[in-house]
This record gives sequence, C-alpha cells and structure tokens, in this order.
Amino acid sequence: MKKPSSAGTSGPSAGRAPKGKAAAGAKAPAAAKKAAPPAPPAPQLAHLELEGRKLDLEVLTGTQGERVVDIGKLRKELGVAAFDPALASTAVCQSAITYVDGARGRLLLRGYPIEELAAHATFVEVAYLLVHGSLPTLEQRQRFSDLLNLHSMLHENMRNFFGNYPEGAHPMAVLSAMVVSLSSFYPEIKLDSTQEEIDITVTRLLSKLRTIAAFSYKKSIGEPFIDPSHKYTYCENFLNMMFRSPVSKYAASAEDVAILNKLLILHADHEQNASTTAVRMVGSTGANLYACISAGVCALWGPLHGGANQAVIEMLERIVREKIPVAEVLRRAKDKTDGFRLMGFGHRIYRTYDPRARIAREICTKLFRKRRITGPLGEVAMELEAAALADPYFQERHLYPNVDFYTGLIYRALGFPKEMFTVLFALGRLPGWIAHWQEMRADASQRIMRPRQHYVGPAQQPYVPISKRR
Ligand code: SDX
Repeated sequence: MKKPSSAGTSGPSAGRAPKGKAAAGAKAPAAAKKAAPPAPPAPQLAHLELEGRKLDLEVLTGTQGERVVDIGKLRKELGVAAFDPALASTAVCQSAITYVDGARGRLLLRGYPIEELAAHATFVEVAYLLVHGSLPTLEQRQRFSDLLNLHSMLHENMRNFFGNYPEGAHPMAVLSAMVVSLSSFYPEIKLDSTQEEIDITVTRLLSKLRTIAAFSYKKSIGEPFIDPSHKYTYCENFLNMMFRSPVSKYAASAEDVAILNKLLILHADHEQNASTTAVRMVGSTGANLYACISAGVCALWGPLHGGANQAVIEMLERIVREKIPVAEVLRRAKDKTDGFRLMGFGHRIYRTYDPRARIAREICTKLFRKRRITGPLGEVAMELEAAALADPYFQERHLYPNVDFYTGLIYRALGFPKEMFTVLFALGRLPGWIAHWQEMRADASQRIMRPRQHYVGPAQQPYVPISKRR
C-alpha cells in the first residue's frame, strides 16, 4: 500500500518526514555558502512486540498536532490485523478538508472556523470552499451560481418518478433513489472522467438535489411542483420551490433565507462521519459519484446520525403528548435496559458542546423570540438541555447537545415538516461528501477499502445431506 504523501499538507510536522539529501548526518560540502537546512526530525516511532518479534510503526503528526500510528505493514510484518469495530480509534485516510477538535469544541472547514463561516458566508460560498479548496472570488462565485442555476432543472422524465411513490413515502427514500437515478440521465461520470466532467457533475448534484428535495415535498402534500427560477439565490430558490404555490403570494423572507444559509453551512462537512465514510467506501470501488452520494444519503438517514434531527422532534412531541416529566426522561435515558436515548445528545468526537449546536441554539432562541413562538416543544427542549447538562451521568460521559438538538425546532418554525429535516441535513452535507469523494480519488495511497475481520465462526465441517439432518 503506497504511503500517503505529505504533499499538500503544510508545516514540517505534517504527514511523513521528508527523506533524501537532507537526511540526518549528511555532511554539507565545504564550498556551500549557506549552511544546509536543518535535518528534519527523525520520524517518531511506536514499538510493537508480539511473540518476540518487534515492529517499529511510524507516528504521523497532522497540522493540528493530532497523531496517528501508521499500521499499514502490521499484517505483512506480524501477521495480525488491528481490531477496532466502530473505527473509533482508526484513521481511514489522510484529509485536508475539515478538522474537528472534540476536546475544545472547534470545527474548521478548510481552516475557517464554523462560527465565522456561519456569520459571514453564504452556503454557496462554503460549498465552493469545500469542493474547490478556497473561498471564491466574486467572479468565481458568480460563475458557480450561474452553473448551479443552469443545472437546477430535472429531466422531464424524472418528474414522473415522483408520482409512482406511495403516499407518505419518506423523502429520504425518494432522495436516495432519485440521486442514483441521475446517473442514468448523465452517465458520463466515470472512473476516468475529466475534471470538466467532474465539475459539471458536482454542480448538477448540488443543484438538482435541492430540486429533488423540494419536489419530493410538493408530491407528499399533493401540490404541483414549483420550478427553480434564475431570479433567486440558492436558498431563496429552495424556499420558493418548497412553499410557493400557484395560488399563494409566498415570497421567501430575507430572514428565512439567511437562517437557511446558516443551517446548511452548519451541516456542510464534519470529517469522517458515518455517511462521509460511506461515500468514501463506495467511491473506493470506482462507483460513480451519484452512486456514492446515494450511499451517503442512506447512511445519513439513520436516527443515530442525520436522522436524529427528526428523532429529536418526535421525542419532544412524545414527551409533551404523554406529559412525561423531564426527570423521567433522563431516568430512562440512563437506564441501560430501557433502550431509550436522549436524541440530539452525545457525539463520538465532541467531549464538550458541539460548536454547531451552540450556533443553532442561538438562531433558535432569536427566531423564537422575534416571532414570539411559544409552545411546549421549545420549552421542553430547553428544560431537557438544562437538566441533562446538570446531571452527573451526562457530565461523566461528556454528553452535550449536538447539531441535531436544535435544528429541528428551527426547521419546524420555518415551516418544514419533520420528514424533511434529514433531507435538509443531506442538502447541507452534500458539498462535504463531494469534497471527500474528490480527495479520495486524488489520494494515491487510497485503494479499494476492504477491512479485515476477527473470525469467531465454526471451523471447517462436512456438508450434511438434508435426509441426514436432525
Ligand atoms: C450526527 O460523526 C459525526 O460527526 C456525526 C455528525 C455529523 O455532522 O456528521 O455530527 C451528525 O450524527 C450527530 C449525532 C446525532 N445522533 C444523536 O443525537 C443520537 C443520540 N446520540 C447517541 O446515540 C450517541 O451519542 C451517538 C450515536 C451520537 C454517539 O455514540 P457513541 O460514540 O457510540 O457513544 P456510545 O454509544 O459509546 O455512548 C457512550 C456512553 C454510553 O454509556 P456507557 O456505556 O458509557 O455507560 O454514553 C451513553 C451510552 O449509553 N450515551 C447516551 C447517549 N449517547 C451516549 N446515553 C443517553 N442518551 C444519549 N444520547
């Protein structure tokens, strides 16, 4: 397996120490005018010993000081594999897209703090940043927006697909199917596609996924589709397609557009979460980008992942409907035999407040105050949060609100039904999935992902004909 190049990562500590002339101990020629650059630090090694055999494993240090031990030669040298079922201690790739600092609750997208992007950027700018690696100039943003507009319509044949779903079909099922169906209409994206073909496919996905989302909602309420229009910006267009109708004078308010931009930015990327890993895994087989994104949509749907935003609202609705005291909710959340989880709480990486939850909480509080939104759901959410944060069980396990705890309340206040919440998460995460797919394709060290296993099944046994089975 080729080792990841440290190219593209900055700073002496990033990736692997360079080799060659500057290797430690090389003598500078007498005629050299200026001293040779200082020799790079010798690579840090971790030492593994098994049955008397010793193996030195290189320790790589990332640009933010995070360290990984390269175990790529473990099986070849020692004949064993590492065992890490949920990959909680395993880095599956080298990436320069997003950095999550779980200890300090920091999130950087291409180095930019999420707080600054949410405060100052539009979602289209952040999508450009993730996909192209830098914030767009005015001219680049305009060209990107024009392309998004150009590719916002669906093929007329695809519009008929929606009518064949049963009433009440979950929009995530529709979304995953429609996304992979795009590959039938635009088959040119292949393993050896040109950058131009990839750029068009990326823009098609970013724009058509929004149209598919809006159309799936309109179908679910039996209203006619509202087509995208060149008159609107990305988020304005989506709100318009969602909530305008031939008989309504709906116009997306500047405040709703601004809030939706922020919410989509909060979801834009989050390093190697389950759905992004699914996109990378499917991408590593050479499957086309539409298939990879469809896999990401399916992985995101789970209530432990992106489906949590819908599950939070359903949990709050149940608490209110059944008048369950908050203390009882927490008791059940702590009872291992109960299987109940406090949805919107906890995170594999964050050991403190998810910075996105902090921003979402602020958006929610301001929106509710400004629009005088009252009602039990918001009150129960705040009460639950306060009680959980004060509870030793949650404190000891570093369980804090995550990005999903407040976003559902905001989406609901903007008029979205809860079945659309995870679709909105997918819309936001799409540029992140695309960025990771691109990075995986460009990484020479990446091959088809094929993990090993720890086999605990039966030893070889002879086949028994059915006549002899008892
Ligand atoms: C997202 O990975 C990402 O970056 C995801 C995401 C992204 O942007 O892509 O951030 C988006 O998916 C956010 C998470 C949304 N999911 C939820 O809100 C569902 C509720 N949360 C949990 O199911 C859980 O916290 C997870 C799934 C988020 C994390 O699960 P882990 O890391 O496997 O944690 P764990 O199950 O090992 O829990 C550790 C302990 C356990 O107790 P002990 O065995 O130590 O006694 O904490 C407990 C758990 O029982 N625990 C909870 C809890 N979450 C963890 N107890 C009650 N309620 C919870 N929500």
